[in-house]
Amino acid sequence: MHAKQLRVGVVGATGAVGREMLKILEQRTFPAGIVRALASSRSAGREIPFMGGQLTVEELGEDSFHDLDLALFSAGGSISEQYAPIAARSGCVVVDNSSAWRMDPEVPLVVPEVNPDDLAWHKGIIANPNCSTIQMVVVLKPLHDAGKIKRVVVSTYQAVSGTGQKAIEELESQVRQMFNMQEPEAKVYPHQIAFNCLPHIDVFLDNDYTREEMKMVLETRKIMGDADIRLTATTVRVPVFYGHSESVNVETEKKISAAEARGILSQAPGVQVLDNPGEKIYPMPIHAAGEDLTFVGRIREDESIANGLNLWIVADNLRKGAALNTVQIAEVLVDRDLVRV
Ligand code: A2P
Repeated sequence: MHAKQLRVGVVGATGAVGREMLKILEQRTFPAGIVRALASSRSAGREIPFMGGQLTVEELGEDSFHDLDLALFSAGGSISEQYAPIAARSGCVVVDNSSAWRMDPEVPLVVPEVNPDDLAWHKGIIANPNCSTIQMVVVLKPLHDAGKIKRVVVSTYQAVSGTGQKAIEELESQVRQMFNMQEPEAKVYPHQIAFNCLPHIDVFLDNDYTREEMKMVLETRKIMGDADIRLTATTVRVPVFYGHSESVNVETEKKISAAEARGILSQAPGVQVLDNPGEKIYPMPIHAAGEDLTFVGRIREDESIANGLNLWIVADNLRKGAALNTVQIAEVLVDRDLVRV
C-alpha cells in the first residue's frame, strides 16, 4: 500500500495524549491519507482542529477498525484490552500507549532510538512503554553499550499531565482554590497535589512498590533486551503540569567517566546534553515541555562506588513519553513496510 493512502485512527483523540498525537501527526506531516478521531460517546460529534480543517469525533465501537490501517490508542488500559485485539484481527495495526499489552511476550515494546528492530516481529499490536521508562532508556542505552549497566536506582518527579486531562484541571483548580483561601478539592489524586508531592503513582502492589515503579523495572529489561539489569525505582507525582524529571544512578561493569558519559550522550539519538553547572545550565521541565528531545545533565561520577554515574533526565511526558514515541513507532512501521500484517 502506498504510504499516502494510509488510514489512521487516533483512539482517545480528545484526551491529553490523544490531542498531542494529532498535533504530532500534523507537525511531522505523517503520511496519512485519512485520519479519524475516536473517543467515547460523550465526545461524539465534537470537532477537533486538524491540518487546517476539523475532525469530527466518532464514537469508538467494534466496527471502527475495518477501514483503518493503523490505530494509535491512548484511551486507557481497559479500552486497549478490549479493542486492540479487535483492531488487529481486522488487519489494523495498533500502537498502544496503555500498559495493557506491554509485558505480553507476543507484543514488542519499543523505543525507536533503542530497539526499533523488535518491530519486525509484531503480530498486530505494538506497545508504547511507560513515560518514565522511555526517557530513561534513551539515555541508558548508549551507556549500556559502552560499559554494560549492572544496576540502576531511579527516583522520578512526574508531571500531572501523565495522569490525563482531569489531573491537569485538578492542579489548576487546587492552585486557584488555595489562592482564594478555599480548601483544595482532591478527586483525581488521593491527596492534594498543589504545593505537595505524592510518592504514589498507580496502585500499590503486594511488595509495597507501586505498579508505576515495577513498570520501570520490567519494561527497562524488555526494551534493553537484558534480563540481568537490576533496577529499583521510587516514582513521585509533583505539582508540575508538563515534563517528567528523573534522578538516575547507574552502576556499570566498565568504568565510564563523567567526561566520557557526556561525550557518549552528546552523540546519542534523541538526546541533548545540557550540563554546565558553572552557568547554571541543567535540564528543567519548564524548558522540556513542548520539546521532542530527552535532556540530560548533572552528569557526575558516583564517588561512593567504583563505576557509578549520577544523571538528571528530563523530557516532555506527553511527547517523548507518550504521543511522540507512538508516532515515531508508526513512522518506523511505515518506513520498514510493516503496517500490513
Ligand atoms: P472522552 O473524552 O470521550 O471521555 P485522558 O487520558 O486525558 O483522561 O483521556 C482519555 C481518552 O480516552 C479520552 O479521549 C476519552 O474520551 C477516551 N475514552 C475514555 N473512555 C472511553 C471509552 N469508553 N471509549 C472510547 N474512548 C474512551
